[in-house]
Parts: sequence; structure tokens; C-alpha cells
Amino acid sequence: MNTLDQRTALEQAAQKRIKDSHALDGDVGRLAHFYRGWASSYDLDVGREGYCGPTVVAELAGAVQTAYLANDRAAIAILDAGCGTGLVGAQLKRLGFQLLDGFDLSEEMAGKARKTRVYRHVQGDVDLNGPLSDYCSATYDITICCGVFTLGHVRPVALRELARVTRPNGFIIASTRKSYAEATSFEDEVRRLQDAGVLVTAQCLNDGKYIAEEGAHYWVFQVPHRASAPAG
Ligand SMILES: C[S@@+](CC[C@H](N)C(=O)[O-])C[C@H]1O[C@@H](n2cnc3c(N)ncnc32)[C@H](O)[C@@H]1O
Repeated sequence: MNTLDQRTALEQAAQKRIKDSHALDGDVGRLAHFYRGWASSYDLDVGREGYCGPTVVAELAGAVQTAYLANDRAAIAILDAGCGTGLVGAQLKRLGFQLLDGFDLSEEMAGKARKTRVYRHVQGDVDLNGPLSDYCSATYDITICCGVFTLGHVRPVALRELARVTRPNGFIIASTRKSYAEATSFEDEVRRLQDAGVLVTAQCLNDGKYIAEEGAHYWVFQVPHRASAPAG
């Protein structure tokens, strides 16, 4: 096999793994199993496919801090929900953020994130489709969720828990792949949460660059001061 053939084969394998990950029906066991096998080649695969989600969400966090938050970046507490191997953490560190926590369903992906040493604490085996019982309410200035609101992964209702762990007047930054947003009525969930006073949409970058195959929407939500999310 020549070098060009090798590169094509690697690209096709990466595309197949990305596609396969979208067919896991949100099943926690299948997702954890799948990512256990993907952890070692994930960064290379998504890099080959031009994945820029982590850069965009980190830069949105930078803009939010500059525009709205009183504290310096070094003092802004950020939760990276579904942190995977830590690609978002690396981008946040580049921009001067230091107080980073992360969690992921997959212990193997979380282990990779831990090894980057950019996080204070990374927890594995945390399911965003259920209550985040290890996380206190109103803790984080910014909660980020990148590449997780995607087909076969996490349901839009997870936004409620992300809002609960974010402090009043804090922000949630999330990507939604276009196909996911359409298939899951993500915007209906946003409207429900907005009507319930759980969050407010502060900004949405529509159809931004994300990965070669498809774009994503990038959302910035603010948690209102009188957040009515249940105490945890
Ligand atoms: C496409 S990766 C994105 C990882 C990272 N945020 C990034 O941008 O590179 C999706 C991640 O979501 C995690 N995940 C999938 N379902 C989850 C769930 N129910 N709860 C928490 N994490 C989940 C996977 O283990 C995987 O690490």
C-alpha cells in the first residue's frame, strides 16, 4: 500500500468510527464500550476530520469571560461535561483558563483527559442522561458541553442538569451537530427550559464549522439569577 492509499484508508477508518458512534442509540453500555475502544485513536481520528468544536467552544468561553465576568480567566471555574480525551481543556488552557474540572461516561476517555494534566479533577463513569449527583448546584461559572449533543449520545433534557451545576448568572456553552438538533427538537427543549426560568439563550452561532462532514450550532445560555432548577 502506498502512502496515499494508507492515508485514505486511515481517513475512511476514522469516518467509519465517527459514523458508528452516532448509531449507539444513547445506550450507556454501548457508548461506554464503544469509547473504551476508541480512546487511544480518538484524537488522531477527529483531527484527520478537521474537528474544530473544542476551539470554537473555548473561544466562546473566552469571549463570555471578557464580556461578562468580573474574575480573571485564571479564577473562572469551568466544568467540561463529556470531556472525552480533554481536547476542550487543552484549548481552554491555551486561552488562560486554569480551574478546569471534567467528567465523561467513559473511564478510558476520562483517563486520557487526566493525563493531559490541564484539569484539576476528571471523573469517569458519569452519565449526563441522569442526575449529576456528585456535582453540587450553582458551582461553575461556565459549563461546557462539546461534541456530546450529537446523534446516539445525550438527550436534550441533559441541559437541565448542566444548568443546575452552573451558578446564577453563569453560562453554559454547548455544540449541537446540525443533524442532532433537527432529529431531537433540541430547540423545543431550550424553549421549555427558558419558559421554566432555567436558562436564557444569550447567543447562538448557527451552522458553524465543526467537522468535515457537517456543521454545528454553538449555543451560549445564561442561567438566570432566580434559577428554578431543583437543588441537588
Ligand atoms: C465526540 S466525544 C466529544 C469529547 C470531547 N468533548 C471533545 O469535544 O473532543 C463524545 C464524548 O461524550 C461521552 N459521552 C457519551 N455519552 C455520554 C453520557 N451519557 N454521559 C457522559 N458522557 C457521555 C463519550 O464518552 C465521549 O467521550
